[in-house]
Amino acid sequence: MDTPLLLVPSDPLTPRVPDEHFEREADAARQAGLDVAIVDHDAILAGDVRAAVRRVPMADGGQTAWYRGWMLPSAAYSLLATELGARGVRLLTGPAAYRAAHELPGWYGMFADLTPASVWLPWKAGRAPTTADVSALAEALGGGAGVVKDYVKSRKHEWHEACFVADLADTAATTRVIARMVELQGDDLAGGIVVRAFEQFAPDAGGGRTQEVRVWWVEGSAVLTTPHPDAPSGTAGEVPSEVYEAVGMSVRALGALFVTTDLALRSDGVWRVIEVGDGQVSDLPANQDPARLMMALMRASPIRE
Ligand SMILES: Nc1ncnc2c1ncn2[C@@H]1O[C@H](COP(=O)(O)OP(=O)(O)OP(=O)(O)O)[C@@H](O)[C@H]1O
Ligand SMILES: [Mg+2]
Repeated sequence: MDTPLLLVPSDPLTPRVPDEHFEREADAARQAGLDVAIVDHDAILAGDVRAAVRRVPMADGGQTAWYRGWMLPSAAYSLLATELGARGVRLLTGPAAYRAAHELPGWYGMFADLTPASVWLPWKAGRAPTTADVSALAEALGGGAGVVKDYVKSRKHEWHEACFVADLADTAATTRVIARMVELQGDDLAGGIVVRAFEQFAPDAGGGRTQEVRVWWVEGSAVLTTPHPDAPSGTAGEVPSEVYEAVGMSVRALGALFVTTDLALRSDGVWRVIEVGDGQVSDLPANQDPARLMMALMRASPIRE
């Protein structure tokens, strides 16, 4: 039997060891019974995927692997899966499942009742959208406030400039915000433009930003609940069991094996899914013990007879 692998990014300065950001997870993975191997994240992004996986031991085809690392564009993940396959290593989350959990158009259908209404348009990085491009998209949501992002990431830190739209019926203003979002994402624009209906979330107890709860799912079961990494000591309140049940149904319908869902309490007291992510590239706050996550990944690794 081949021991399942956890692949983590290498330290950019010492390529033989895990990036310090993932060191604790690598240790917890070994404790849980996984082997750890290293991939070179920068080489993946540079398109040199063969070099990126050269430290992954060659296997005979029965070796399975999980990844825990920095976000990868879906196309890069697909190339990574192919190169690992050539070394006899199979990523348990295949490229299609990764894309489905990572990009909003992939998961939206399964979560439509639980997440703000959203529309999207495939878009090329660097191309400036015009009012004509934007009007049909924004109109589909029927006006009101909105939030824009690409298929994966927003410019939430440039909220008024490139994220929030006060009224989607104001096509000129909507186009300005979307165009700025596209410009700031630059070559990193993932997939296209997403426009979402704005919903009012409850501020945290201190009156600040909305607190989000990140629920980690392995094979459709919630294995860990943490704060969002942006507010690692935040407390968004207890998620009721019926919310876990409803979100779990959508996670299982999505079918990806390792998923995160970021939940927030809306001002009217309804828990909502803000976004879904592939668990392999969701950040775990530094104050959280990765042991349970790694044990769940170990349990979910098929064992060859
Ligand atoms: N539809 C919405 N209505 C109100 N607020 C929203 C909406 N969508 C997003 N937000 C706010 O904007 C923030 C960023 O949105 P989102 O999580 O989708 O983007 P992101 O860039 O992927 O963030 P992350 O850092 O979590 O990966 C959220 O944390 C939330 O506070
Ligand atoms: Mg988010």
